[in-house]
Amino acid sequence: MGGAAGGPAEPDPRRPLVGDEARRWAADYGDEHAPASEDPPGSRFAWCVTGSGHYLEESMALAQRLPQVDLFLSAAADEVLPLYGMRLEWLRERFRVFRDKSASSVPVGRLYAEAYHTVVIAPATSNTVAKCAYGLSDTLPTNLFAQAGKLGVPSLVFACDTEPVVVTKAPRSHATEWLTLRPRRIELDNVERLRTIDYCTVLTSPTELEAALDARLKALKLAWNASSS
Ligand SMILES: Cc1cc2nc3c(=O)[nH]c(=O)nc-3n(C[C@H](O)[C@H](O)[C@H](O)COP(=O)(O)O)c2cc1C
Repeated sequence: MGGAAGGPAEPDPRRPLVGDEARRWAADYGDEHAPASEDPPGSRFAWCVTGSGHYLEESMALAQRLPQVDLFLSAAADEVLPLYGMRLEWLRERFRVFRDKSASSVPVGRLYAEAYHTVVIAPATSNTVAKCAYGLSDTLPTNLFAQAGKLGVPSLVFACDTEPVVVTKAPRSHATEWLTLRPRRIELDNVERLRTIDYCTVLTSPTELEAALDARLKALKLAWNASSS
């Protein structure tokens, strides 16, 4: 049957997005990769990076040693990573990368395909720790954390502002190499509150994070990458 003027019928504006249309929609909102249903169930780490310079290099070094890692960047991580010498193209050579380009955290839909056995947030900013501790989910990392908890997928969160005095590495462009910060009571309290959240383990040093990842690999009968030291 023809359209109003006898031409081809207009597509139904109420039709749901499927197939190529759905893929284009997902790519516009930060997920340009093959559907998660193509990944074997329980096969991958969902590693979230937030806009923290503190322990960024140590966290990324650990992520590179793990098998099957997808990176999920907060918008702040997207901005901060290049300041520490980690540009998007460098990340894409090592990981599948998902960016925070939507209000609804579109790439989080991948969690429901059950491809991920573990969510990691490392490093986690004070901002992300606070949101996770109070059940807020308005960024890619905080949404992954919240949805993982609702699905019973364990999360490891490396909270960096956990000591009264934190000495942190400045961006490479900065005049001084190290900065001294004193987290406030509220930051320290938020870390303690985060420890009470279901399916969440809080780590407070690279050594603790490495040990928790090692335990997780053993539980999953997986191993660190062969080339890793
Ligand atoms: C160069 C740079 C380094 C930063 N380092 C930290 C940090 O170590 N810890 C932190 O809590 N915030 C840090 N921030 C601030 C966060 O990026 C900012 O609070 C941001 O809103 C966090 O968003 P996110 O938690 O969604 O990633 C840094 C910002 C910049 C520009």
